[in-house]
Amino acid sequence: MNQAKHIAIIMDGNGRWAEAQGKKRIKGHEAGAKVVKEITTYCSNSQDIERLTLYAFSTENWKRPRLEVEFLMKLLDNYLKNELEVYLENNVRFEPIGDIRAFSKSLQKTIAMVQKETSHCDGLIQSLALNYGAQDEMIRAINTLKNQEGDITPEMFSNTLDCKHDVDLLIRTGGDKRLSNFLLWQAAYAELFFTNTLWPDFSTKELEKIIKKFNKVERRFGGLK
Ligand code: FPP
Repeated sequence: MNQAKHIAIIMDGNGRWAEAQGKKRIKGHEAGAKVVKEITTYCSNSQDIERLTLYAFSTENWKRPRLEVEFLMKLLDNYLKNELEVYLENNVRFEPIGDIRAFSKSLQKTIAMVQKETSHCDGLIQSLALNYGAQDEMIRAINTLKNQEGDITPEMFSNTLDCKHDVDLLIRTGGDKRLSNFLLWQAAYAELFFTNTLWPDFSTKELEKIIKKFNKVERRFGGLK
């Protein structure tokens, strides 16, 4: 039986969830943040799941209206400060991926603080992808490695990426079937699950169902059975 040791999620559909209820899009992000907490807590209680990587803000999300971007930054800052206690209670280590140098100094400080305070936790590793894009991540790795002597091996490349771990199960909520520049290297052999559920409606029950299906998939990694 497959084990979903590393689960990655594209949390899509916050805006549509809010708009369907006649609310402002930001209300969808607020509701989405609650689901982040619920899913993280669930994963931290699972024996099998070691890593949960969540796409919280992409390198392309800057194109959104200024007020929405500002709201997302504030929400993230509040989330991290408020959830520190929950991370510690659940023994969750927080590890951001992405190029956070583009964020305000105060948000960078919050991110570094939560990372430091949870660095001793040895349960689930929750990675939030922040100003993350797989192409940007790969280009940064190439620039780091370009002056190395000799050939670059896949292991060297992988170890230079922000996220150094292959994904087992990649889930996208919100109905679209694309990867949107998320973990393109690490998801090379990931099983992909797409659900129409909008992120604020996603639940631990649905995650459990997806994991059960994943457990039964035959993974061959390019080989034969
Ligand atoms: C997509 O919804 C979601 C995002 C742009 C970011 C995800 C953000 C959250 C889940 C909330 C904050 C997260 C944390 C960790 C505090 P969308 O706006 O693209 O939805 P739409 O496709 O319906 O417009």
